[in-house]
Amino acid sequence: MSTEKRPVILDCDPGIDDAVAILLAARAPELDLRAVTAVAGNVDLEHTSRNARRVLTLAGVEAPVCAGAAGPLFGPTVTAGEVHGADGLLGLPVPEPAFPLSPEPAWDALYREARAWDGALEVVATGPLTNLGVALAKYADLPRYLRRIVLMGGATAFGNTTPAAEFNIYADPEAAGMVFRSGIPVVMCGLDVTHRAYLTHADIDRVEALGTPQARFAADTMRCGVAQHERFLVPGAPMHDPCAMLYALEPALFTTLRCWVGVECHGTITRGRTVTDAYSDAKREPNTELVTDVDREPFVDALTARLAVYSG
Ligand code: BDR
Ligand code: CA
Repeated sequence: MSTEKRPVILDCDPGIDDAVAILLAARAPELDLRAVTAVAGNVDLEHTSRNARRVLTLAGVEAPVCAGAAGPLFGPTVTAGEVHGADGLLGLPVPEPAFPLSPEPAWDALYREARAWDGALEVVATGPLTNLGVALAKYADLPRYLRRIVLMGGATAFGNTTPAAEFNIYADPEAAGMVFRSGIPVVMCGLDVTHRAYLTHADIDRVEALGTPQARFAADTMRCGVAQHERFLVPGAPMHDPCAMLYALEPALFTTLRCWVGVECHGTITRGRTVTDAYSDAKREPNTELVTDVDREPFVDALTARLAVYSG
């Protein structure tokens, strides 16, 4: 097995579950975190780009943080402050950033790194896909230089923001459509799998018992997630964004189905819906590895073990 670290960019809108994904990526021994690119989503861009640096500071890691889009390609900005708090991190005591924002825009950093790694760079995307949409519009040859995009977004069943749509896709359906049409290999971790990748209070106790500031922060965000997801009948806190990061790290924990995914941009009640074609008569050419299930207990073990690196 190769001991070389894999180059990765985390494109995100922290956000409490993005924050846990950052903690997982920052110290993952097999990853070279080239940059964290921030986008408006859960809260505004000023907060997401600051929160990315706050969480990296909590992790004790300095990686370039580049700000990207302050809103979607079209339409109104959608936020989720009611879930993540006005500051995006529930007002929890996270340190102030120990380093400044990079002057480079997110899309330029994505392209520059993709060119530099000549096809080896992966993007894990856990927010609205606007930064990638702008990068694809600005740099037509970007697809040839990206290994894959593992994204948290969408759902084959129900939505969590509208009846039809999941938050990240609903927040910028046009950009999401560009990503699925780009020809870049896409792995989609939607609500179908993230609602199965949950931590119960007992699981969260294990995380908290790690006793580090990083683990205590993660556990606090998770406890809040349990209460927030009762209405979805999830018996714990779904690890939406950590799921995408753990797929990038440990794909054997997951089950996938190759199929076509497109994004509805025009529907009056279905805008932002991911439409999945696995079984139709005129089955479309697959463009996505759809993550359909997770081995929950080993997933919880892996997540806990990866947060335990902060103890050492
Ligand atoms: C997604 O929406 C955001 O609120 C979370 O950070 C996650 O990326 C879940 O639908
Ligand atoms: Ca997110």
